[in-house]
Amino acid sequence: MSDKNATIDDTPLLSVRDLSTVFRTDRGPVYAVNGVSIDVPRGEIVGIIGESGSGKSQLCLSVMRLLAESGRVTSGSVLLNGRDLLCLADREMRAVRGEEIAMIFQEPSVGLDPLFTVGQQLVETIRRHRPQPVRLAREHAAQLLASVGIARPTMILDEYPQKLSGGMCQRVMIALALSCEPQLLIADEPTTALDVTVQAQILDLLLKARDDHGSSILFVTHDLGVIAEICDHVAVMYAGQIVERSPVDQLFDAPQHPYTRALLRSRPLLSDARVHPLPTIPGQVPRPGEQPQGCPFHPRCPDAMSICHMAPPPVHRVAPRRDARCWLLESEADRAQASEGTAYEGENNE
Ligand SMILES: Nc1ncnc2c1ncn2[C@@H]1O[C@H](COP(=O)(O)OP(=O)(O)OP(=O)(O)O)[C@@H](O)[C@H]1O
Ligand code: SF4
Ligand SMILES: [Mg+2]
Repeated sequence: MSDKNATIDDTPLLSVRDLSTVFRTDRGPVYAVNGVSIDVPRGEIVGIIGESGSGKSQLCLSVMRLLAESGRVTSGSVLLNGRDLLCLADREMRAVRGEEIAMIFQEPSVGLDPLFTVGQQLVETIRRHRPQPVRLAREHAAQLLASVGIARPTMILDEYPQKLSGGMCQRVMIALALSCEPQLLIADEPTTALDVTVQAQILDLLLKARDDHGSSILFVTHDLGVIAEICDHVAVMYAGQIVERSPVDQLFDAPQHPYTRALLRSRPLLSDARVHPLPTIPGQVPRPGEQPQGCPFHPRCPDAMSICHMAPPPVHRVAPRRDARCWLLESEADRAQASEGTAYEGENNE
């Protein structure tokens, strides 16, 4: 292989840079995603973890350009194969969705069209991706439904989504997302509402999609066990920002950010669960409209210093593809310099 090709292959499939998303509300702007940068390399599974309200879903929906009416991406870029999705016409973006990117939505009803049967939706997607007679596409659709744990697939093909339970809709949506063999699959908590056996089956299917079609996966979950099991890399989100990025094993072995450490401590351990109450992270995720000055985690951080109240921490490169935003990682001299800078700005503003 030539050097030129090697460079192209090394380019991440998805490269999000400095993405910010804001919602208009009666109480003013809500900054749901704040300058997020994240890469999803080809054939890798990148996990996103973070407490409820940290911006995981809005990040995914920004990439898909499927934000609610009041939401808008205000800055940044979303490169898929080097092409900025934010610059595409609506028609071009519709073609990208379902052919190059598919999403399993956190809320299953969002991903399914109530006007068409499960079979119509699956058969259309399959035939768009690989032209073939309806009969064959329908057989493939039934196989896909069986693979996501649906017991009577041919019967379900003729049902409308609103007739199905939440768990069943979620499985249909997973089948629909996998049916087009996407280059990038965005899975937003794909296994909530499913029992443990089906969860394991779905995780196997996602791994198979990666292995068979080379799909890359952006995988959002609250479940650290799932992150450890299937992800190559992981990004930790807090208050609309990525506060730590790391290869998955290094994150569990040596978390760099106090928020990551707190999340890992709050993980249920089977051996301890019956004896000790589970630790929780004291305090609340700040409301997106009410971000504290400085580091957004400072009101809850056991390690907070005075600089943390004044200035947002810079991104600190810990190792290749490993970084964290925390003043603890900066030298004392850099912290002192930043303190002086904020004091000087304060004087100038008086
Ligand atoms: N339509 C909207 N209007 C105003 N604010 C919104 C809207 N949708 C989301 N937000 C805000 O964006 C923030 C991030 O929401 P998001 O759904 O991305 O959280 P999340 O990390 O996916 O949480 P969860 O784990 O509960 O799914 C929320 O705190 C919410 O207040
Ligand atoms: S920057 Fe300060 S407040 Fe923020 S996580 Fe690090 S130590 Fe805690
Ligand atoms: Mg969410």
